[in-house]
Amino acid sequence: MSATKIIFLNDFSLVLSFLIRKILTLQPEIEYKFMVQQDEIFKKLISHCKEYGFVFPSSEIYDGLAAVYDYGQNGVELKNNIKRYWWESMTLLNENIVGIDSAIFMHPTIWKASGHVDAFNDPLIDNKDSKKRYRADVLIEEQLAKIEEKINKEIEKASLRFGAAFDVQQFRTTNPRVLENQAKYDELHARFVKALNDSDLEALRQIILDSKIVCPVSGTANWTEVRQFNLMFSTEMGSTLEGAMKVYLRPETAQGIFVNFLNVYKSGRMKIPFGIAQIGKAFRNEIVARQFIFRMREFEQMEMQFFVRPGEELQWFSHWKALRMKWHKALGLGDSKYRFHDHDKLAHYANAATDIEFEMPFGFKEVEGIHSRTDFDLGSHEQYSGKKIQYFDPELNQSYVPYVIETSIGVDRMFLSVLAGSYHEEVLEGGDSRVVLQLPPALAPVKLAVLPLVKKDGLPEKAREIVDTLRFGFNCRYDEKDSIGKRYRRQDAIGTPFCVTVDHETLNDDCVTIRYRDTMQQERVPVSQLETIISDKVSIKNLLKTII
Ligand code: GAP
Repeated sequence: MSATKIIFLNDFSLVLSFLIRKILTLQPEIEYKFMVQQDEIFKKLISHCKEYGFVFPSSEIYDGLAAVYDYGQNGVELKNNIKRYWWESMTLLNENIVGIDSAIFMHPTIWKASGHVDAFNDPLIDNKDSKKRYRADVLIEEQLAKIEEKINKEIEKASLRFGAAFDVQQFRTTNPRVLENQAKYDELHARFVKALNDSDLEALRQIILDSKIVCPVSGTANWTEVRQFNLMFSTEMGSTLEGAMKVYLRPETAQGIFVNFLNVYKSGRMKIPFGIAQIGKAFRNEIVARQFIFRMREFEQMEMQFFVRPGEELQWFSHWKALRMKWHKALGLGDSKYRFHDHDKLAHYANAATDIEFEMPFGFKEVEGIHSRTDFDLGSHEQYSGKKIQYFDPELNQSYVPYVIETSIGVDRMFLSVLAGSYHEEVLEGGDSRVVLQLPPALAPVKLAVLPLVKKDGLPEKAREIVDTLRFGFNCRYDEKDSIGKRYRRQDAIGTPFCVTVDHETLNDDCVTIRYRDTMQQERVPVSQLETIISDKVSIKNLLKTII
């Protein structure tokens, strides 16, 4: 067996990596593995987003506004494509799902009924030395993740050492270091779940002290008590003369669906089971607002509430769990990047809940939640509003408050997962390098770039003619500046799946050279075939066909 050496590249330089590869070919008996430190990749992804017009910090010329971001010219296209993929998968593929668009401002009693006024809290803790504020539950979760990482590193090292003969299960149950860390993990996890379930703030603090968790800024464990902090933003509606009313910026879009249940059921003559989908902004005064667009104070949700007969909810929960995972995996970013994570602590309204997590550069993180919300929301609105919110089931000849399965996905987290899964730095033959976004073609902001080889001899006119014909089917871009190589790199960096080059021959044979983003292969095709070749690959409809 050949020896293996892992080389961590702290500041990933493509040139350096290329040179190292060259030198290493002198020692063929050693198998080298290059591992780019994920936090470096994440930093690069963030600056790539800014440099190529995907995401900008909000109010940047005024030094920004924490945890608020703007989407640029390419970001908005990618975001709209994600929303379209979701919206059409809900409303076109399911004849019993319809959409709505409810207002952000709603009657304040809605948030009392939903439980948000009393229970939409985060447990906060301050470090007395740095004066920094943290979420107590997040500090403990990070501690758990560190232990898990230690276990995974042991397994990774052993797997490299033993190669094909390695048995993970046996290693997990026999290696003393893994067993010791697993026991630590299990004990901490059990205490954490109990503290959360009991809403025991003092127990959370004690876990932080016992685990010797320190503030990353001051390095000390000089912590305050843990306090609850409500995450809703509020404002005043109406002038003070009239007696202004305190209203909230909605922290989820779901309540807009619940309070419109009767309207849609009656005006749409809906029959259970049926769903209502909505895409819209939500606002939360997040305290730990780090990790770029992963946790924002203003973000967007795509939520669907599926109304079912009481007693059938867990069956529908499994159905939606499977369907939503299929929707994610159809994008082709790699099945191993997704996993389910069942909730340790169920929210006050749920009798089952799971997250779909994606492997971000900072670990597996929640992108979507699937919750069996029972009849909590409709029942509570019935109680607070005094209106009967029930469904008459003609088959059972009986009225009841329907049960609800919710699928709730953040547009921005989905955006981040797609970008993180698509971002690649490649060293090419000959020492050249490129950054390429291997975006699913149906989501790419620009589908086709048309490039005249030179800015004369009628080539720009021919290129523009091609753009003018194809622009009705998909987003096309014309680019004549710089060398062809530089123009290819610019399109790779924004994930354009196809480039076509118009050259002098095109004027004679009406053919162009099409270049495929991922393989960089080129072929000569008639202009008349471009629409079919490209439409087929970039169509959201074709993507949807793969998930039915
Ligand atoms: N209606 C249920 C609900 O809102 P949630 O788990 O609190 O459930 C659902 O949120 C999804 O919304 C999450 O899976 C995540 O993708 C997104 N989300 C929640 N808070 C967010 C934030 N501060 N920034 C960005 N996305 C967020």
